[in-house]
Amino acid sequence: MKKKIAILPGDGIGREIASGAASALEAVGKRFGHEFELEYANIGGAAIDSDGTPLPDSTLALAKSSDAILLGAVGGPKWDSLPSAERPERGLLAIRKELGLFANLRPIPSFQKLVQSSPLKPEIAGNVNMLIVRELTGGLYFGKPSERRGENNDVVVDTLLYTREEIERIVVKAFEFAKSRDGRLTSVDKANVLESSRMWREIVNEKAADYPEVTVDHMYVDAAAMKLISSPGQFDVIVTENLFGDILSDEASMITGSLGMLPSASLSESGLGLYEPVHGSAPDIAGQNKANPLAMILSTALMLKYSLHLREEGEAIERAVQSVLNDGFCTPDLQMEGSTIVGTDQMIKLVTERIADDV
Ligand code: NAI
Ligand code: MG
Repeated sequence: MKKKIAILPGDGIGREIASGAASALEAVGKRFGHEFELEYANIGGAAIDSDGTPLPDSTLALAKSSDAILLGAVGGPKWDSLPSAERPERGLLAIRKELGLFANLRPIPSFQKLVQSSPLKPEIAGNVNMLIVRELTGGLYFGKPSERRGENNDVVVDTLLYTREEIERIVVKAFEFAKSRDGRLTSVDKANVLESSRMWREIVNEKAADYPEVTVDHMYVDAAAMKLISSPGQFDVIVTENLFGDILSDEASMITGSLGMLPSASLSESGLGLYEPVHGSAPDIAGQNKANPLAMILSTALMLKYSLHLREEGEAIERAVQSVLNDGFCTPDLQMEGSTIVGTDQMIKLVTERIADDV
């Protein structure tokens, strides 16, 4: 099978970990007899430097003409003084919107070997296997108006806007995932305060009728934040709006001990998907060969499974990652007792070798 993959490394550690995705794909291609044609383009700060805009037309065109997209991370102190409409992060929001990537999926498994590096007790952290489904192209991040007002610019407004269609399509996606997993869906909202949440809840209840095999419950976002720490094992699939999903998924990511472990997928209605780690560009460790490339490599596995329908190939990557961790190798962020600390390059090499060897 021949597939064209766009790789957008972005900024900071994005550039270091992107090579992990490329190496993993090369190993998968060799072992399973596929050809992955990798094409690179700039996004974020790198694109501001090269083209004067965080999402150049050429990058968008490449993304649209590819079978799937891998993205590293964007942003960094170099561009912090720019107004928000011109910052690297704007490139990310723009590509999500342009490609209609409304469904953001963040699987949070427990990595048995990493349970000890979780801030939670092992018996709580070891019991986790959830999928957070976050709405990605609506809500506060995109609602207009979003501006400063008043004579002294000292009044501000942001708008939380959703249409029925936007809520329906993400809710249906979440039900489909719940059906294929443990059959439990938790919808998170703030229906005691927000009108948007009241409609969200109505729609979840309507769609529940089409999925009798899925058990549904509703939870306020503040309660959900608490439960993610006290009893994360109770969740199977969580569905929520853009801002709540952003915050809860970062919180949930810490159950596994490091942001550097968690992949994400962002899907459109047409099936085109963009895959990226949950973390950012980590300017504090960029260029030091310290970044954990596993979130990027696991994002590549999700891409193979969800966009290219190469399940076996994706699982081969996931097994290789587990095997390297089980043998006690980790990057400095993981703080596993008695482990061998390796740099980004060596971690990529270890995983790649194990993909080739079929561990
Ligand atoms: P961050 O996720 O970049 O870093 C938070 C902390 O986690 C840092 O101490 C960092 O060293 C560590 N970390 C993150 N990923 C790691 C990895 N793979 N291996 C080892 N350690 C890792 O978040 P922060 O510092 O808030 O933001 C830095 C920049 O990234 C900002 O410009 C921000 O806007 C941008 N950002 C971009 C995102 C994206 O491209 N999707 C998402 C989040 C932030
Ligand atoms: Mg975030």
